Amino acid sequence: MCGIVGFAGKVPAAPILLDGLKKLEYRGYDSAGVCVYHAGSLQVAKKQGELKNLLAVTDNGATLPGNIGIGHTRWATHGAPSDENAHPHLSQDGKIAVVHNGIIENYLALKEMLLAQGVTFRSETDTEVVCNLIAMYYARSGNFLWSVQMTREVIVGSYALVILCADEPDTIIAMKQDSPLIFGQGEGCNFVASDVPAILKYTREVVYLNDGDLVVMTADSVRFLNRQSATVEKKTEHIAWDITAAEKGGYEHFMLKEIFEQPSAFAKTISPHIQDGKVVLDGVSFEERYLKNLSRIYVVACGSAYYVGCVGKYVLEKLCRVPVEPMLASEFHYCDPLCDENTLVLVISQSGETADTKLALLEAKRRGARTLAIVNVVGSAISKEADDVIYTWAGPEIAVATTKAYSTQLAIVYLLGLYMARLRETITDGEYDELLAAIQALPGQIAALLTEEKIQEIQDFAKKFHQAEDVYFIGRNVDNATCLEGSLKLKEIAYIHSEAYAAGELKHGPISLIVPGTLVVAVATHPDLFDKTMSNVKETTSRGADVLAVTTDAFADEIGKTAGQWVLIPETLPLLQPSLSVVPLQLFSYYVSLERGCSIDKPRNLAKSVTVE
Ligand code: F6R
Repeated sequence: MCGIVGFAGKVPAAPILLDGLKKLEYRGYDSAGVCVYHAGSLQVAKKQGELKNLLAVTDNGATLPGNIGIGHTRWATHGAPSDENAHPHLSQDGKIAVVHNGIIENYLALKEMLLAQGVTFRSETDTEVVCNLIAMYYARSGNFLWSVQMTREVIVGSYALVILCADEPDTIIAMKQDSPLIFGQGEGCNFVASDVPAILKYTREVVYLNDGDLVVMTADSVRFLNRQSATVEKKTEHIAWDITAAEKGGYEHFMLKEIFEQPSAFAKTISPHIQDGKVVLDGVSFEERYLKNLSRIYVVACGSAYYVGCVGKYVLEKLCRVPVEPMLASEFHYCDPLCDENTLVLVISQSGETADTKLALLEAKRRGARTLAIVNVVGSAISKEADDVIYTWAGPEIAVATTKAYSTQLAIVYLLGLYMARLRETITDGEYDELLAAIQALPGQIAALLTEEKIQEIQDFAKKFHQAEDVYFIGRNVDNATCLEGSLKLKEIAYIHSEAYAAGELKHGPISLIVPGTLVVAVATHPDLFDKTMSNVKETTSRGADVLAVTTDAFADEIGKTAGQWVLIPETLPLLQPSLSVVPLQLFSYYVSLERGCSIDKPRNLAKSVTVE
């Protein structure tokens, strides 16, 4: 969602802020702005639309001299995307400037109080209210830090707030609650940002801030204060990955690059956890007794991560013989879930910041469940809150639509299933060895799906079908779970209405939507269910559907009897097949989106990290 960067240094701030905002564009935004202190006042420039609009009005930052400033990319929540609603916001008296990620829940009451005092507002945002609230305390006290601390006592909601004061032109104050914020230590300069890529060009030494933390920084100094206003020491972490990991590297889009990174991301994710032919999970401290008494697993997540949970249901139930319920995080919190000390709540999140997932995690903990998080971003809120964490090593995922994070989350689910099954004694040694060997073979098999020839095949299908209005994805068992992800990809990046249905369910209603020419994508990899899925495919072809099937090499001779066109993928064990069948679906959505001229990496209305409920 919104992105933040703040800089205090000895060189012009605006170009550095604009460069940082460029690195945050992937998060999804609809306006951008910067504020720089210069010659006694806070100068603001902000524009609706893409960052290039802001670059144009500021002549790439040249019109805004000054060595300290704050910048923001906004994803509208309160008030439509517009120049007025864009951040930074300036207080009515011009003394305070603020950028903000998150939502201030009690902003209306605070706004009324400020209106009664004669404050006028230029925007519809909750952020402008916070800005004027700080200014109100500042007008009374002349103390910048105290004014920010007082404001923190009054506001309710989620925030990463970064603040400038015209009377203290060397200082930036930032604070956080339920929205990500990091501090970065440079040479003769300091940074705050919502995400590492914004500042990685300038520093690798960062501090991940906790909820309640407040930072007071200048170019040469930093002080961290906790909620009780005591000065605290913070551990600096070194970022090991390179900025090139967050750049396109010759690919037309981040999404394509990330699809191609899947073999290596998968291998990197599993390799630390396989030693001497056994799965080791260092981040997990399950006792054998706990696992034996396990009565239920909830897999709680949003979007694609939830669809990993839908695959996980089949994998974990089959291997561990325990009921597994995938649940949307936004529902879990409010459904009075049945949790006790024998429940495992597995939360999955690429960003580790998704508000719904985080709230569900806290609710699970409150109810006494044990929590385990599968997370990609080190130091993220969810990684800090969960009892145990297993990281996916996908590297930074920039495209809004996930691909490599999805694949690496699946990888961890397989390993977790094997690990728990062994301790629960629900798997034989032979099955264990066979599965582990098959998991280790997956990176090579994924790579085999990314050859020029395969890509060309899928590109041709995309050309043929890109004008489809409605698409139905059907499959059974794990193939059904893969269809959910394939359908989501097509919706989000190609803006095509699509639905995923269990193949056997079609005849109970949705088949009435199949008319001549409707595209049906059938995923049929499960050897025991191939014939049954083909029967369902026939139900659609006999009503005129055009079928694109995804099946394994094993059915090369069969598939043409039922489907008009197909993609063959390598065969693995049925439970692992989703790691392969999802790849042509990702590529299909990508090339359909390309044909339709959509914004592939930054689809409309979407954000990379969804930090509001
Ligand atoms: C879809 C997609 C989203 C995310 C969802 C959860 O391509 O990327 O559906 O999977 O918003 O995000 P995380 O994994 O960051 O919690």
